[in-house]
Amino acid sequence: MTMQYSTATSRFNSGQIKAGMQRTTKLPFARPDLSELEFEAVRRVMESGWITSGPETDAFESEFAEMIGAPGAAAVNSATAALHLGLVALGIGPGDVVLVPALTFTATAEVVSRTGARPVLLDVNRQDYLLSPEIVQKFLDGCSQSPDGPVCAEGRVRAVICVHYGGRVCDLDGLFELCDRAGLELLQDAAHSFPSRDGNGYVGRRGPVTAFSFYATKNMTTGEGGMLTGDRPELIERVRRMRLHGIATPAHRRAGWHYDVVEQGYKYNLSDIASAIGRVQLQRATEMWNRRKAIHDRYQKAFGQIPGIRTCPEQDASAYHLYTLEISPEARLNRDEFIAALEERYIGTGLHFIPLYRMTYYRERYGLQPADFPACEEIFARIVSLPIYSAMSDEDCDDVIHAVQDCQKL
Ligand SMILES: Cc1ncc(COP(=O)(O)O)c(C=O)c1O
Repeated sequence: MTMQYSTATSRFNSGQIKAGMQRTTKLPFARPDLSELEFEAVRRVMESGWITSGPETDAFESEFAEMIGAPGAAAVNSATAALHLGLVALGIGPGDVVLVPALTFTATAEVVSRTGARPVLLDVNRQDYLLSPEIVQKFLDGCSQSPDGPVCAEGRVRAVICVHYGGRVCDLDGLFELCDRAGLELLQDAAHSFPSRDGNGYVGRRGPVTAFSFYATKNMTTGEGGMLTGDRPELIERVRRMRLHGIATPAHRRAGWHYDVVEQGYKYNLSDIASAIGRVQLQRATEMWNRRKAIHDRYQKAFGQIPGIRTCPEQDASAYHLYTLEISPEARLNRDEFIAALEERYIGTGLHFIPLYRMTYYRERYGLQPADFPACEEIFARIVSLPIYSAMSDEDCDDVIHAVQDCQKL
């Protein structure tokens, strides 16, 4: 499907100052890009009288699948729900191990322990922050082999969840090949990765489970929301059932009062109000991606020559969800001073991520040591995320550039 370019303008005016002068109002780290079209779509659904999951969600699901070329899609209320249902549908549970990168949001590992399985955290590639086939292979080399596949101290290794950090795509050819060989399932946490590209198409078009997030800060948003895409029709059907209590036929497809519950389910469905927003955001996805890419390119150019700063790892396939800088110990301001200095200049920042082994819950439950994750440790010590979103004006972008240059000038 060719996406339409929209001429819609943002309802939120953000630019407050002229380039070169210090801002007087805060530039938030992230802000949704919502135009009149989303407001009109919500009004249309609200006036229709059907606001929970229904025809709008069906349409959103199929339009999303069509756009990324996925054989199937199931709309849910978060990426967390998509990953959780994906793991359940793959039969992962107690006694199983799922390999997860340590540099991610808690949702990626939380869904594993929710099934009763054990998340085992792995270090990431120092250069691009991604889980690589080499890292997974190294872990598997330390496992024993059983007729059911690799076994480690924590249990039977069943699956890997790779995270396309910041929109950069992991080596999917390598990971699929490795997982096929080892008898593992590969799930993709694509919370940051709409629309990222994978070879000749979009991320989400291959593999059993890819989970997208439409949380408020994501490249496209429905407020809260998510989508599971996958290439196994029976798995998609099961996820569609489980997302709404295991009910065989959803309300908007039933003629009368009768319905049946055919398995244990969850309350993970997406409303038609959210789906109405999603359908418009989908139409505007290329326009919004172009804007993110333009900001990314400007930052790369502006920050390339500043001593002590490493610019964002480059990848053409990226969704450009995050723009990260690394601040080395030799920079004029260290990372924490730099964040404070940007805040003083009214520039919001983020930090992606505090590695999971540093969180009380994971540290205490699994007895993890930072020394076992040298790449994550170095990344965490240096990293900061700058604002990058399509609702930013050129002036906002100038403000970020001037503030960074100002903070780190020698
Ligand atoms: C890498 C990653 N995975 C999963 C999630 C969870 O997404 P959601 O809030 O839609 O459940 C997030 C959210 O920020 C994320 O950053």
